[in-house]
Amino acid sequence: MITPVLLSGGSGTRLWPLSRKSYPKQFVPLLGGETLFQAAARRLHGPGFGPSLVVTGSDFRFIVTEQLAGAGIDPGTILLEPAGRNTAPAVLAAALQLAEQDPDGLMLVAPSDHVMPDEAGFLAAVAEGAEAARAGKLVTFGIAPDRAETGYGYLELAAPHDPAAPRATDLVRFVEKPDAGRAAEMMASGRHLWNAGLFLFSVRAIREAFEAHAPALCAPVSRAVAQARPDLGFLRLDPEAWAEVEAISLDYAVMERADNLAVVPFAGGWSDLGDWQAVWRESAPDAQGVATSGRATAIDCSNTLLRSEDDGLEIVGLGLENLLAVAMPDAVLVAHKDRAQDVKSAVAALTARG
Ligand code: GDD
Ligand code: MG
Repeated sequence: MITPVLLSGGSGTRLWPLSRKSYPKQFVPLLGGETLFQAAARRLHGPGFGPSLVVTGSDFRFIVTEQLAGAGIDPGTILLEPAGRNTAPAVLAAALQLAEQDPDGLMLVAPSDHVMPDEAGFLAAVAEGAEAARAGKLVTFGIAPDRAETGYGYLELAAPHDPAAPRATDLVRFVEKPDAGRAAEMMASGRHLWNAGLFLFSVRAIREAFEAHAPALCAPVSRAVAQARPDLGFLRLDPEAWAEVEAISLDYAVMERADNLAVVPFAGGWSDLGDWQAVWRESAPDAQGVATSGRATAIDCSNTLLRSEDDGLEIVGLGLENLLAVAMPDAVLVAHKDRAQDVKSAVAALTARG
């Protein structure tokens, strides 16, 4: 049985103004229907999976229970972080919590910001990776790149993979978020896949990897878990110990440093809805590249996303090219399509202004 570990503590600032600090993107029905968090939980709910372990920020605890109930999924264990410390501490805390019941069990770490239409294909890839994970490998899932994206990690294989027969294969190296030049080289090599952001390993293997590659995290995270306090069905990590934990992602803390990595290539559709350009791509733009939603009207526009959220302002675009515009009742974003990644710094500037 594999325990799904759902990470849902990110703040998704590149999707401002829809994604807010108090209500981040993973809890919003970005493409209509269920939210990204509900989709992630549902994908890993069923035969072969045990009850899930959700790791999230304390502020999101009731959103998480409400959304799991809405999706008809048993809440399992919900571990609350007093503050976000990025993904490495969240994963280590999950592993230590699971070690109490089954130190050799398998855990599948899943982000909650993805679109994956081929769920059966993904479950087959998980089944393929399980043997390697049981043998002590840290298993990643690889997507064939179609552009030199700098927002993802890259997985280097020894030889090009065979898309017709996706097998778990040892990795040469893991490169997190390369610069544009390196991303273009890797994209051209034919031997690199994007890291899908999902990881499969045994509790023992990931604990050993943290001890070897990120030893400074081990003592404070262990204390935060050992002194965690049950609270109304949630489990609260100890805030004093947690305050000593460094903020770092699993990719930088462990994956770039470990030498026991494997990858299962995955050919089904996949997208990280990380920024408005990705939302535009996934919103089925028309022949002119225009996607609209809500009270939004585009006239003579091309390659443009216009969205008015829920009770957002009415928005009209006239003769626009390469634009992203998102209207809320209290804020409007208007950005060049190539600047989608920079929304994060715009939000940082707003936060600093107070
Ligand atoms: N609990 C918790 N606490 N969850 C967190 C935290 C935290 O402090 N920070 C981020 N998360 C959650 C996010 O909500 C998201 O679901 C997931 O962890 C991944 O974090 P992102 O911040 O979205 O990572 P990324 O997209 O920049 O990069 C990762 O994913 C890419 C693919 O989507 C990396 O693994 C890349 O290598 C990968 O290509
Ligand atoms: Mg992401």
